[in-house]
Amino acid sequence: MIKINNLSVTYQSLEDCYAALDNINLELEAGETCAIIGPSGCGKSTLLKVLAGIITNFDGTVEINDQPIRPSKQRIGFIPQNYGLLPWKNVDENIRLGAKIKGLSSASGTEDIALLLEELGLKGLERRYPGELSGGQQQRVALARAFLLKPDLLLMDEPFSALDAMTREEIQDVFLAVWREHAVSTILVTHHVEEAVYLGRKIVILSVSPGTVSTIIDNPLFGVEDVRNHEDFFQLCRQLRKKIKEDWSK
Ligand SMILES: Nc1ncnc2c1ncn2[C@@H]1O[C@H](COP(=O)(O)OP(=O)(O)OP(=O)(O)O)[C@@H](O)[C@H]1O
Ligand SMILES: [Mg+2]
Repeated sequence: MIKINNLSVTYQSLEDCYAALDNINLELEAGETCAIIGPSGCGKSTLLKVLAGIITNFDGTVEINDQPIRPSKQRIGFIPQNYGLLPWKNVDENIRLGAKIKGLSSASGTEDIALLLEELGLKGLERRYPGELSGGQQQRVALARAFLLKPDLLLMDEPFSALDAMTREEIQDVFLAVWREHAVSTILVTHHVEEAVYLGRKIVILSVSPGTVSTIIDNPLFGVEDVRNHEDFFQLCRQLRKKIKEDWSK
């Protein structure tokens, strides 16, 4: 269970301070997925960095299972907006990195890695370095790393943005398969309305900067088989687009 209470974040520089998030309240059940949509600059990445324990200077409280965020104690998988790969490590080493930091045995991970490489279309690229991969391939390496960790909380910042439409849909399905198997609590930031409706049990619309929660939607279509082809799916996407427009023009 994730509980965010009255969270506000202000960035301080020498002569200036800038309110990035204003009084965010949000609760997520264990195993739930949540898609966050908000205009550029409204504080989405800031919110994920707070949950990942990277930003520690904030007002309010943020708890995972009634404990304050402590990445050393909790297993938090974070895919930052720029993928977060280490340029001096090859694909295989990058994938193993998160699990290695957590002290998980590398032998047991080998089978999982083989499967992930297959599912994410990375086979044959194990020895390449990030600088030798396309943006979409780097994104898939970041996904493999996060999935391998089997985190208690998975945070993904626009994780599929660099993928072409078909690959994006395939990898959304890979994510859902991993999620079904492990019921990982997940928060993902996305600019795609369809992606939010496909992957979010909860959909949260943030306002323009400084980000506040303007709407929370319980998504009745989450997890419905073959939902992308349902008329209900198109209709909900249409409604959501309309709502987003209203919220952002306030
Ligand atoms: N380290 C920082 N110092 C000062 N201001 C910052 C810092 N990081 C982000 N900001 C500002 O805080 C606001 C929120 O940034 P953030 O990266 O969270 O937005 P975002 O919603 O993720 O945007 P995008 O959709 O473009 O990725 C922006 O106006 C940004 O310029
Ligand atoms: Mg961002």
